[in-house]
Amino acid sequence: MKNTIAILKERKQNRQKITMLTAYDYTTAKLMDESGVDCLLVGDSLGMVMLGYDSTVSVTMEDMIHHSKAVARAAKSAFVVTDLPFMSYQTSVYDAVLNAGRLIKEGQVQAVKLEGGQAFFEHIKMITQASIPVVAHIGLMPQSVLALGGYKVQGKDYQEAKNIVLDALAVEQAGAIAIVLECVPADLAKLISQLVSIPTIGIGAGVNCDGQVLVYQDMLSMYDGVASKFVKSFAPIGNHMKQAFTDYCQEVKQQQFPTSTHEFAIDGEVMNKLKSEFQS
Ligand code: KIV
Repeated sequence: MKNTIAILKERKQNRQKITMLTAYDYTTAKLMDESGVDCLLVGDSLGMVMLGYDSTVSVTMEDMIHHSKAVARAAKSAFVVTDLPFMSYQTSVYDAVLNAGRLIKEGQVQAVKLEGGQAFFEHIKMITQASIPVVAHIGLMPQSVLALGGYKVQGKDYQEAKNIVLDALAVEQAGAIAIVLECVPADLAKLISQLVSIPTIGIGAGVNCDGQVLVYQDMLSMYDGVASKFVKSFAPIGNHMKQAFTDYCQEVKQQQFPTSTHEFAIDGEVMNKLKSEFQS
């Protein structure tokens, strides 16, 4: 059965944690879906982990649609959310609705995510009014990395923390179906999770959020960018992959691969005929 907004909300009410992982391709998304991950996020982090940029700001609508389609084809149960990329919604409410619509129609996902709180009240309200579910992303907002001056914990002093609480209340009021809380103190995330009736999904926001999200390359140690304090490596898949690629190169060079078990046979008479025709 496909996860729905109602199911996610029910999880919060029943204090059952929601699981979310980023996904960008069919094969990985299918493995996650089959593992029971509740939500897949086609994050604009794909700019770094899939496309090799040093931030998310270069990611385009076309990139997001391309990867969303692949993930959507794999997700039989998981609820799929896609990021609105930098400058696809900041420019106007009109652009926000139009591009959110493109992600839903062309990307075939169930919801869009945008970074912003009080300042994006109208954007969230109007996208929601167009019947498109919105997940809001507050706290550390990677698309604002240039303005923030780096990836830092947000909400450590009173004014900043209050502003994040007000962001959470505003996006709920605007109609957001969930809130991603990135890189904020755990106690602040706990307070916000108690104040809002929609699920909070934390990343670097402590255990008291209603759910958790991680970038999958981080939790599998596949990406060698700067590792954040909040990342846990669940399996050293990056090392396993490197070892497998090294072994492959060695076996090909030493003619240990392929062996006869990997070959297809041809009738001897056919070969003899070919040889007499071409080798004489
Ligand atoms: O783009 C992304 O992967 C995200 C997560 C960090 C939540 O927004």
